[in-house]
Amino acid sequence: MKYGVAIIGAGNIAKEHILGYLNLKDRCEIKAICDVYIDKAKSLAIENSLKVDIVDDYKLLLKRDDIDIVSICLPPSLHQKVTCDFLKENKNVLCEKPMASSLNEAKLMIDQAEKSTALLSIVSQNRFKKSIMKVKQMLDSKIFGKIVYTRVNSMWYRGDNYYTLWWRGTWEKEGGGCTLNHSVHQIDLMGWLLGNPISIYSTIKNYLHANSEVEDTSLSIIEFSNSIAQLGVSLNDMDEKQEFFIQCENASIAIPWKIRCMKQKENGFPIRDEEKEKYYNNLYNELDEIEIEGHSAQILNFINALDKKEDLIVSAQDGYKALEIITAIYKSSRLKELVHLPLKEDDEFMSKETIIKKMPRFYEKSKSVENLKDGITL
Ligand SMILES: NC(=O)c1ccc[n+]([C@@H]2O[C@H](COP(=O)([O-])OP(=O)(O)OC[C@H]3O[C@@H](n4cnc5c(N)ncnc54)[C@H](O)[C@@H]3O)[C@@H](O)[C@H]2O)c1
Repeated sequence: MKYGVAIIGAGNIAKEHILGYLNLKDRCEIKAICDVYIDKAKSLAIENSLKVDIVDDYKLLLKRDDIDIVSICLPPSLHQKVTCDFLKENKNVLCEKPMASSLNEAKLMIDQAEKSTALLSIVSQNRFKKSIMKVKQMLDSKIFGKIVYTRVNSMWYRGDNYYTLWWRGTWEKEGGGCTLNHSVHQIDLMGWLLGNPISIYSTIKNYLHANSEVEDTSLSIIEFSNSIAQLGVSLNDMDEKQEFFIQCENASIAIPWKIRCMKQKENGFPIRDEEKEKYYNNLYNELDEIEIEGHSAQILNFINALDKKEDLIVSAQDGYKALEIITAIYKSSRLKELVHLPLKEDDEFMSKETIIKKMPRFYEKSKSVENLKDGITL
């Protein structure tokens, strides 16, 4: 049986989903594309030589028997409603990051998935990178000893024009700034590689984006049960590096992959342990590599999970966990206090109303356009 697929939202990221499904032509077929701007949906179909139904209202697709999988490629504030509507009809949903624009919304999505027979997964395509997959296996095997300190750089450059798109740059529609929409990738990886944090202290600022209410910079200290991490996020870094540096008992490792090992002299000062570095480098090089990366690899895993050939690598709970860390970052920066995790169910920052009401508006969003030209870089 081939899975029928619908793409909801024909903007920037929809192209990556289409590519992923087209790579699996023997297992799925795109049946429909939906966008409120019908011309965007039509162009996307033409660009990809797809003969599919084009609709401007996703509700027209809810009851279609030939649709089994739905990719939600909409702005964050629409993820919950549209995902839940499809889950109610037992359609499997792959929803773009961030899972939702508040934790209460994310909870509704998980509850609805549990009530249905369908699978819900949240996009976190950076898990599906060769180096990340290998480091994950090595960390899980405990080969480096205890993890003690991690430094994460989530550095990006987006100019002020980025925020003219209508849904970006407000607490209401985007749900947050670069901590939510850019570093969600690194935050998800941090949870996946290091486990669940127990507390967070953060500060957020907006230095250079005058058409945006939300932050363009954040810095957090994140404590795990046996280690700490620092997370720096910026939209003002023209070098645009996303990096992990993990200090373990036996080695300091970096992603992109690099390893450094030291021995101590009698006085405690270091000498390089090249033999150990060679040993770890050999182990790394011998590990099997995933053949495809990114969205296409996540879509392959999603379809394999539906066919019960593999475990789902990014669950709805994983999407929730990443959003919970981000919410704790916002809460800590707002209250200027240490926030303990997990957040309690009655925590006021679970709700979107609190986020909208209490988070600082760094600037007023005064310019807005319905669509921006040019594609995006991932
Ligand atoms: N995984 C990644 O690396 C990555 C990269 C970029 C964006 N994203 C995420 O993907 C999502 C979409 O981002 P984008 O950059 O593609 O945005 P976009 O604005 O380019 O695309 C969103 C599309 O949804 C359409 N739309 C809005 N409301 C609609 C509705 N009610 N019904 C149907 N269509 C509607 C818009 O017209 C637009 O074409 C966001 O959640 C974003 O965070 C993820």
